Amino acid sequence: MSPARGAACGKVILLGEHAVVHGTPAIASGIEHGAEATAEPSTDGRSTLLLGAAEHIAGDTGGDLCRAFGALLAELPGTPPLRVTAESRLLPGGGLGSSAALAVSIARAVRAFDGGVHAIDDARILAAASAWERVFHGNPSGIDTTAAALGGCFLYTRAEGASPLALRRDVWLAIGSTGTSGSTRLMVESVARLFERKPDVKDQTLPAITALVRNAALALEAGDLQGLGRLMVLNQMLLAGLLVSTEDLERMCNLARDAGALGAKLTGAGGGGSMIALLDAHDEDQAERAAARVLGAWRSAGYDGLLARIS
Ligand code: MEV
Repeated sequence: MSPARGAACGKVILLGEHAVVHGTPAIASGIEHGAEATAEPSTDGRSTLLLGAAEHIAGDTGGDLCRAFGALLAELPGTPPLRVTAESRLLPGGGLGSSAALAVSIARAVRAFDGGVHAIDDARILAAASAWERVFHGNPSGIDTTAAALGGCFLYTRAEGASPLALRRDVWLAIGSTGTSGSTRLMVESVARLFERKPDVKDQTLPAITALVRNAALALEAGDLQGLGRLMVLNQMLLAGLLVSTEDLERMCNLARDAGALGAKLTGAGGGGSMIALLDAHDEDQAERAAARVLGAWRSAGYDGLLARIS
């Protein structure tokens, strides 16, 4: 019997990270790179997760991965003991939703294992992936798991979930990596503490980010790349005000804009991780030329990146 398989994509947040945790809207999109998992019968009656060289037993007290795997399986009742192998092609803590992509791919492989006895419905997969994410991130908004499960480009709020955006044209991004990782949990907690200490910062920042996100949704649907780029730059300034940007992220944003990007900002939790630069491109050829300029500038400064299409 061949193993059951599950896959999920990584994500970028185009605008609105952090604020989305506090109930405001954000825009995210799935990206091609992601995670894959397989599930097969267990030979020793226990459910185990193999990630890299390490084995994690569901529900064991051995660490967060054991607890997260146990929490995920608890949301998929009727699952027999399984041996699950998973792999992410995204840097952990890199801001591209590696943990959520792993969770969704594992939940899909587990659900696919029983050959259709249980329907593989998105709501159940999302509930299982959210249980996993809560172990690592405490108070996730759900945007990462939603992007991993659904892909595409969408507006998201905690209260209403995802509303797909109808893009006028493909959007091309250079995704840059600082080479360091940030902890989503720590960054989300530090913003929550800042809001507690300084309620005026919260009262000013959340409506401002909401306005940027709503306008960015309109810009995406109208194909207005210049407008979208300006909104990204403003969002980056507000994120820096929340103390989640870093010297590397700021430097990469400046390098990208000097190399012709229409806008640039961190993506995800910050504190390291990744950033995105909006390319001035309307087709694949232009995107490749624009990306070569931005990636070249990053590489000469010791950073790396890749080209991604949002469609
Ligand atoms: C992390 O990818 C995005 C954050 O807004 C956290 C969350 O929404 O759960 C920083």
